[in-house]
Amino acid sequence: MTESAETYDLILRGAEVLTPNGRQACDVAVSGGRIAGLGDFGGARAAMTLDLEGLTVLPGVIDTQVHFREPGLEHKEDLESGTRAAALGGVVAVFEMPNTKPSTLDAAALEDKLARARGRAWTDHAFFMGSAAENAEALGELERLPGCCGVKIFMGSSTGSLLVEDDETLREVLRCGHRRVAVHCEDEDRLRERLELVRDGADVAMHPEWRDAETALRATRRLLRLSREVGRRVHVLHVTTAEEVTELARHRDIATCEVTPQHLTLAAPECYERLGTLAQMNPPIREARHRAGLWEGVNQGLFDVVGSDHAPHTLEEKGGDYPRTPSGMPGVQTLLPLLLDHHAAGRLTLERLVDLTSAGAQRLYGLVGKGRIAVGYDADFTIVDLKARREITGAWLASKSGWSPFEGMTVTGWPIFTILRGNIVMREDELQSTPIGEPLRFQDTLQPDV
Ligand code: DOR
Repeated sequence: MTESAETYDLILRGAEVLTPNGRQACDVAVSGGRIAGLGDFGGARAAMTLDLEGLTVLPGVIDTQVHFREPGLEHKEDLESGTRAAALGGVVAVFEMPNTKPSTLDAAALEDKLARARGRAWTDHAFFMGSAAENAEALGELERLPGCCGVKIFMGSSTGSLLVEDDETLREVLRCGHRRVAVHCEDEDRLRERLELVRDGADVAMHPEWRDAETALRATRRLLRLSREVGRRVHVLHVTTAEEVTELARHRDIATCEVTPQHLTLAAPECYERLGTLAQMNPPIREARHRAGLWEGVNQGLFDVVGSDHAPHTLEEKGGDYPRTPSGMPGVQTLLPLLLDHHAAGRLTLERLVDLTSAGAQRLYGLVGKGRIAVGYDADFTIVDLKARREITGAWLASKSGWSPFEGMTVTGWPIFTILRGNIVMREDELQSTPIGEPLRFQDTLQPDV
């Protein structure tokens, strides 16, 4: 599109833009919260023009795995602070997990979360429905409620009480519903058998011994077998082993998968020596051999998304004695800076970064109007400076938990603007205006409002 007499709400000018055509030097015009056109808008009028010489415009980053703890555990995080951290980190939308207090297991709990987010969320959002024996039959209906991104299964116990441990219940949950199901794969029987390794107290470096590679692989294999038997598509969250990468490559027709920035960045035993229980998460950070396997999964096009698994706990909680310390680390705000740093180091192309942080989420979950810089799509942009060198500091972090395993690290590449439906939400590390986040829309929702 070229010059027009129309007046736009916003024009992004002078940047390199990651469009479906590839990397393009072009302007982007925005009208009514949507992308009105890509091209030369040099002569067009706009209420606001951003001159972005030297910057790069990415599709708005979507984080498909965060734990924001509201309701019930707001001393760790809440929907306002979690989405604030997200927006400061360049994230425009989040999918939030059901292991809150109470767990999200029915329509009322989902409606409660949507109501709590209204007027307080800095990003767009959707919520996972938790699965358990008691709500299995209802899941087919529940997963299609507006504002729900799908069902989450915990095969191994982690933070909270949600658990689907035996094959019978797992089969039942997989049978009830059609959307892709997100699964935490750790085998509960094996976790119980091996608990004696750490039960009476141990060094946190034992965490990947207790919850070993076989624990993850066994659960992933069981899930793949049952999902094939039942004919249900699944999404394996936070893959951690080289063996699962190989296994998942054989099941691309039914399974998609996620990797986290922390599993791509940290490695045992060094992370436990340096960070102690701050490095404790489920499934665990493992040795460099597994990290190399995960990078192979990135390079081979195996992984569909990067999710942060933002799982905040306070420093006081993390300061207890292992294994009673809670598992999880915050990450929604550092997801993009870490990936940009991997890009700067030559480990990740910008095109693959875009695939993992926006296009993948759209493809997997059937998001409506998001994940792509294309005419008619929501005007969601994460505008980055690929060359900026910045330190991740405590002062910059917005999570209530107040810490990051990456504090003190200097990265190359930084988010400069977060733009949500044409509105500037973050500019140069400062939030702008008020929280305008809305529920995300999906193709499979029962009452589509499109
Ligand atoms: O380390 C983790 N923490 N893994 C999970 O699966 C849950 C999460 C949390 O909610 O704390």
